[in-house]
Amino acid sequence: MTSKNNKLSKCALRVPASGTLKMKILSTELEAKGKEIIHLEIGQPNFNTPTEIIEAAYNAMKEGKTGYTSSKGVRPLLEKIASVHSKDTGVEIDPKRNVITTPGAKASLFNALVSLVDPGDNIAVISPFWPSYSGIIQFIGAETRVVQAVTEDFSFPEESIKDAIDKNTKALLINSPSNPTGTIYDLDTLKFINDLSNDNDLMIITDEIYKKIIFEGKYHQYLSVSQSLDRTLVIDGLSKSHAMTGWRFGYAIGNKELVDSMNKVQQNISTCVNTPTQWAAIKALELEEPTMKMVAEYKIRRDKSLELIEQCDYLSCRKPEGAFYLFMKYEGSIPSNKLAVKILEEKGVALTAGSVFGNEENYLRISLASGLVDILEGIKRTNDILATLQ
Ligand SMILES: Cc1ncc(COP(=O)(O)O)c(C=O)c1O
Repeated sequence: MTSKNNKLSKCALRVPASGTLKMKILSTELEAKGKEIIHLEIGQPNFNTPTEIIEAAYNAMKEGKTGYTSSKGVRPLLEKIASVHSKDTGVEIDPKRNVITTPGAKASLFNALVSLVDPGDNIAVISPFWPSYSGIIQFIGAETRVVQAVTEDFSFPEESIKDAIDKNTKALLINSPSNPTGTIYDLDTLKFINDLSNDNDLMIITDEIYKKIIFEGKYHQYLSVSQSLDRTLVIDGLSKSHAMTGWRFGYAIGNKELVDSMNKVQQNISTCVNTPTQWAAIKALELEEPTMKMVAEYKIRRDKSLELIEQCDYLSCRKPEGAFYLFMKYEGSIPSNKLAVKILEEKGVALTAGSVFGNEENYLRISLASGLVDILEGIKRTNDILATLQ
């Protein structure tokens, strides 16, 4: 662009391209040139959306449910979300005041952060973290206050969090089970976070998109600990639990003031979630079994992959308790972004560099949402390339 009127805004220029999608774009380019690629780079379940959900969308369309809806979502859907979460957490949730549905959980996060943060404010996030958090915060012109998780097990950094937050910290963003580490916060950690929130008047944004993908231990929703929506905003969705990434459905549960503001943002951007998806989401929220089957398969993939990694000289990995990723540590001095491109170009394996998730060098993330044969081959080829670099 050359003319002054065509110059991009400062806001547009500071928005980073998605780090996780970058490898997808690179690998697709190589595929277009005829190279065969093993895809382990994005969190896209290799399962079809369960048939009942597809039928619910189809029936809605046949019944003429194809127009705009209320921007928060259709009433039965808001009621369903409120009742499911009330039952799980013991907190009374008003479907009209406390719930909003959005095109993906990403849009819930965007609407929330735009509603909460001004330039000059900061949001605390725990590294390693999903890069869209900092992408959205950067878009707004605010600061991502990165706090390193405990190195050994990626647990919550209770020691360092208090020094990291200050009067400009508007919220702490947590993500359990975590993308990329699969770490789950236990009850004591959630109680600690709740005390932190109360003592510092800190909003906790809790991204629980992987909450149904649990392999071990008991999962606790943060709201069941905080017992109040005053300083809690729950972010959730169906992309991962119900293999519905392309449907674009997410939602948020929060206090009325925040939800109303998120709704105003949404009214100006997307109006509402596409209508057949909303009716399909009601069905999805009633289904447990398809998710359980998928989780059983992810667990097999996790265990077989860890067995193989155990035998690899240059790779190691902490056992994730949830979500569907392996955050593998590697031996060697090559930066992870260079290594990821090298593995793609020379070995045809697309995975994600650890540096995409914060200051995480010497890590690579692979997704267990791909088929087992591909995952095992991808790990083997990664170890092979590392052997040539020692
Ligand atoms: C931690 C986390 N939160 C939110 C999302 C967004 O999911 P969606 O916008 O598909 O609902 C993702 C997707 O990868 C994620 O990993």
